[in-house]
Amino acid sequence: MNLISLLIITVVFFMVNSFIKKNFNSKDKLIGPWELPILGSLLYFGNRSDKYGDFKMYMGDYRTVVLADPMKIREVWVKNFDKFSDRPHLPTYEFFTCGFHDVSTADYSLWKNNRGIIANSFSKINLKVITPIIENQCKLLLKRMKEYQDSNEIFYPKNHLKKFSMNVMLKMVFSTEIPYDETVSCRTSEELGEPLNRVFETTGTGNLFDYIKSLHPLSMLYLKYSVGDDLNYIRSYIYELYQDHLLEIDTKKVRINIKSNFPRDLFDIIISADYPHDKENNIIGIGSDLIGVGTDTSSSSLTWFFLYMCNYPKVQEKAFRELQEVIGQDRQPHISDRINTPYVAALIKEILRIRPIAPLGVPRLCGEDFTIGDIHINQGDLVLMNIFAIHHNEKYWKDPKVFEPERFIDNNNAENWIPFGLGPRNCLGIKFFKVNRITNIECYKLLQYSMALDEIYLAITNILLNYKITSANGQLVDDTERKSVYPI
Ligand code: HEM
Repeated sequence: MNLISLLIITVVFFMVNSFIKKNFNSKDKLIGPWELPILGSLLYFGNRSDKYGDFKMYMGDYRTVVLADPMKIREVWVKNFDKFSDRPHLPTYEFFTCGFHDVSTADYSLWKNNRGIIANSFSKINLKVITPIIENQCKLLLKRMKEYQDSNEIFYPKNHLKKFSMNVMLKMVFSTEIPYDETVSCRTSEELGEPLNRVFETTGTGNLFDYIKSLHPLSMLYLKYSVGDDLNYIRSYIYELYQDHLLEIDTKKVRINIKSNFPRDLFDIIISADYPHDKENNIIGIGSDLIGVGTDTSSSSLTWFFLYMCNYPKVQEKAFRELQEVIGQDRQPHISDRINTPYVAALIKEILRIRPIAPLGVPRLCGEDFTIGDIHINQGDLVLMNIFAIHHNEKYWKDPKVFEPERFIDNNNAENWIPFGLGPRNCLGIKFFKVNRITNIECYKLLQYSMALDEIYLAITNILLNYKITSANGQLVDDTERKSVYPI
């Protein structure tokens, strides 16, 4: 037998073995799609995210349990968090975080430390910094829209909304921003904006090699080749900001204190925090993580908002009337208006219900064997929550395919509305911070503060009060999820 025949026999053996293992495992009670050898369901799983109830599939080498029952999801993500606290060690995560030094991908003990730092930072700086930053970015976005209106040009929202969300994060984390006016020559715009966009695109579309363990070195090579330079750019840019911040903190010798002008931004707090190891790597990693997770998420939801407003003019009119009555056009909206504008609050919930930007959540790794009902999850399996399926299940929602904000007016349906995930490791942008705020009539008021929802609320209210949104040709816009699990 020559070498080529041996090679062919070996490959065929591996393919058959992989096919049998993935499709005929007698212990598996869960249904799932037919799996290809090696790849499993990797090529087509997005299209079937609302077809099954709970199901299993193989993402490459990873047996993956996808849950679509809110009770079971609570059992796993909330009650048994200790067994499902980590994310898988995928090369893409490793590459972008320089070895999982961040919040989103870190292993439990580092995650606990880093998440605590950010959660505390939000409570420390929210009053002083975040709301005015969002308000100011809303003004800049409106100004840009006005330029389009004045010149009678079509306004394509996606990139402007991305810039809006990116600037909110850049200002909040580093006190820097990308100007809206593309003619302005600015270091941030040229050196940070484009590389960040390319990196988002690569992470957003996923990487097949990530899920096939023997191809991990190839995955690293691909990432290095495709966006290695961009990532180096971003990290060295953040490193410079780190050095600048350090200088300020050192020379002024000011301790983090809410009464002084410190913290100026989240980075001041991130830099001053303690880390169990690799302090510098963690600081840079957390900085870039926040820009990554805080940009495409909010801007995608805002893009869906534009699209649905084109297709549902009556909803737009109703929301506008409410805002006109409560806020009017003589002042900018404030997050404290939310309580008096229930229809707009419901409109936002409906957008996040019908088009959740993370339809299958973000994967978690099972740390020890776990059984729930007749579903067995093995140590090393991945678990996903099928947010899309829950948000479109007729058991939990009347006419789930219909866009209808009214459904949230009398019924929060909180247990089935989970766009931000659940449990201790849910989205950090949705964490609520209760704060005492002095209003302009000099009294204290209890406010609920949530980074992601406030950003979306302020953007939407500002836009609706100033513009009527229609499609460029007056036709309906395609609002299907485009058979994709990724944001538009
Ligand atoms: C429409 C807006 C957003 C949606 C729908 C959203 C949704 C999600 C989801 C589903 C997860 C996965 C949670 C899990 O594993 O259970 C997540 C994680 C995360 N999100 Fe968001 N997100 C949004 C905006 C933001 C913003 C503005 C920030 C900025 C601070 C942010 C920060 C994070 C972080 C840091 C994580 C990782 C949490 C961890 O691993 O501890 N998100 N988000």
